[in-house]
This record gives sequence, structure tokens and C-alpha cells, in this order.
Amino acid sequence: MKNDIEEVLFSEDEIKNRVSAIAQKLTVDYKHKNLTVIGVLNGSLVFMSDLIRQMPLPVKIDTVKANTYSGASTTAAAKTEIIHNIDVNVKGEHVLIVDDILDTGKTLFEIIQMLAEHNPQSIKVCVLLNKRARRERDIEPDYCCFEIEDKFVVGYGLDFDNRYRNLPYVAVLRDSIMIAPKTL
Ligand code: IMP
Ligand code: MG
Repeated sequence: MKNDIEEVLFSEDEIKNRVSAIAQKLTVDYKHKNLTVIGVLNGSLVFMSDLIRQMPLPVKIDTVKANTYSGASTTAAAKTEIIHNIDVNVKGEHVLIVDDILDTGKTLFEIIQMLAEHNPQSIKVCVLLNKRARRERDIEPDYCCFEIEDKFVVGYGLDFDNRYRNLPYVAVLRDSIMIAPKTL
């Protein structure tokens, strides 16, 4: 896997430090509040599991899944579709949506609309990465670990063709991999 990497953007240590800092901020902001953390599958898996374990609050956890990218393509599909909805009741709860990256904003825009129908008390967004350059919806993260330029990145939950999510750092892939994805 290492041979496929062009450049590491955020190291394991840098991520650890930022995730701790955000977790501490969230712990202060949501103290004495009923908080439901909703992870967007599959990209938020790694980030969310590290984040919630550093928040000593009695939070509820749930997940949603939306389809934005199809197959190995790195450009957004025309439509975002919610394919797995929450199971918990978030009426009157404070909701924190956790995702790997805020890119065009289409995915989180749809998810926020859908969650708003459940009448939570508040909805906020926490992302590992914010890629402002490609934004198409008027949406900004309330909590964000790192700002990134318009580069396609993998690792720490982010994938290319559903691989590389388990890299412990965030990195840019070699061009050759992006052109011809690997088959084993
Ligand atoms: P958006 O709807 O364009 O904001 O896209 C959000 C989703 O696209 C993210 O949750 C990721 O799954 C995917 N995505 C966007 N940029 C990248 C990237 O650089 N690497 C991997 N996945 C990405
Ligand atoms: Mg995703």
C-alpha cells in the first residue's frame, strides 16, 4: 500500500493531536446536553471511532449512508441518495454529524435536510477535512480538523475505489494508481 502513496499530507501524530483538540472542544460545548453523534458511512468510520472515545459524555451513536460517488470515479455523481437512515429518535436531541470530508457539500446538504425532518434541537457538522475550493452548497463545518486544497486524498477513512481507508494518515495517491486502480 505504501508504494501507492505520492505524499503524506497529515501524519498519524498530527491527526491524533487535532482529533484530541476537537474532542476536547466538543466535550465542553456539549456538556449537559443530550448529544447524538451521527456518522456518515463509510468515510467517517475511523475518524468517528477515535473522536467519540475522547469525549467522556453519555452520547448516543448512529449512522447514515449516502451515495455520492460511484465506483472508482473521483467526481461527484449527479445526485446524492440516502441509502441508510438513522434508527434512533433524535427529536429534541442535539445532533452532531461526523464525516470524513466536506467537499462540494452535496452529501451533507442532503443529510442535514433529511435529519431536520426528525426535529432535533440542533444540527452541527464535524469533519476531518474541509476542501473549500469545490463547494457547491452553502455549508461550512462547525468543527474541522484540517483545511485542504483541491487534491484527492485517501487514508484515515477516506477511500479511492473503497481502498486505502485503513491508512493511519491522510495522503495523496500516485497518478498511476488513480488512472489504473489496482486489482489483486
Ligand atoms: P461532497 O458531497 O462533494 O461534499 O462529498 C462528500 C463525500 O465525497 C465524502 O464524504 C467522501 O466520501 C467523498 N470525497 C470527497 N473528496 C474526497 C477525497 O479527496 N478523497 C476521498 N473521498 C472524497
Ligand atoms: Mg464519504
